[in-house]
Amino acid sequence: MRLKDRVAIITGAGRGIGEATAKKYAIEGAKVVVADLNEEDINRTVSEIMEAGGEAVGMIVNVTDRAQVENMITDTVEKFGSVDIVVNNAGITADAQLVKMDESEWDRVIDVNLKGVYNVAQAAAKQMKEQQRGVILNASSVVGLYGNFGQTNYAATKWGVIGMTKTWAKELGRYGIRVNAVAPGFIMTPMVEKMPEKVIEMMKGKSLLGSLGYPEDIANAYTFLASDEARFITGTVLSVDGGVVI
Ligand code: NAI
Repeated sequence: MRLKDRVAIITGAGRGIGEATAKKYAIEGAKVVVADLNEEDINRTVSEIMEAGGEAVGMIVNVTDRAQVENMITDTVEKFGSVDIVVNNAGITADAQLVKMDESEWDRVIDVNLKGVYNVAQAAAKQMKEQQRGVILNASSVVGLYGNFGQTNYAATKWGVIGMTKTWAKELGRYGIRVNAVAPGFIMTPMVEKMPEKVIEMMKGKSLLGSLGYPEDIANAYTFLASDEARFITGTVLSVDGGVVI
């Protein structure tokens, strides 16, 4: 039980990588806040965690809404007494080539993937500073390391997440707060499942291991980085991508 009695908030935990991470954290003994926009997904994830003997509570939170984010931190402290781990996992895509991307697609992705991460990290960091300990984990992407066709907005955010991760590691280390990012490769989740078969085959081809990853592969990385096994690791980006970017 590597996260025994730790209180962990995971955004976008209703499905995909966030859901797998919430379940893994619960198995490792954490008290998990399943934060997402989608109530049905939240309820399903929470009940599956509880049925498996874990502890979880659901919160409907839009990470772009600062008031909702602040309430999430307050409610978590009220319910569980602290905020030990935050996984900034919520993220979206709205793909188009540069010459076709409209302003609303740019704004939407920046708002969730960049401002949402800033909102949650800022509110959590204030609480963690009081506690003098905490772990903040941010979802970057291979796309934040080497760009991607049709993803101007997404690449900007995932690159930006790395910049914020390193900045916060420098600012918050003195308070016992570690900050790291995970850069997943192509992972089989609802976000990827909606892509054309041709694109999925192309993604497999880019992996040195010849396959896509699964949400559990990323959940394992988030578990290690949140645990005391990673107590001397901060400001880093862990690629979990089957060797797509080396
Ligand atoms: P997903 O689309 O399956 O799940 C994302 C979850 O975030 C959904 O439950 C959604 O409701 C929630 N969400 C979206 N906007 C939100 C908001 N404003 N506030 C709160 N929750 C919100 O995505 P997936 O694939 O699980 O990805 C999770 C993270 O990992 C994202 O940040 C994504 O960019 C990143 N990632 C995913 C990769 C992949 O291949 N699936 C590759 C690299 C990074």
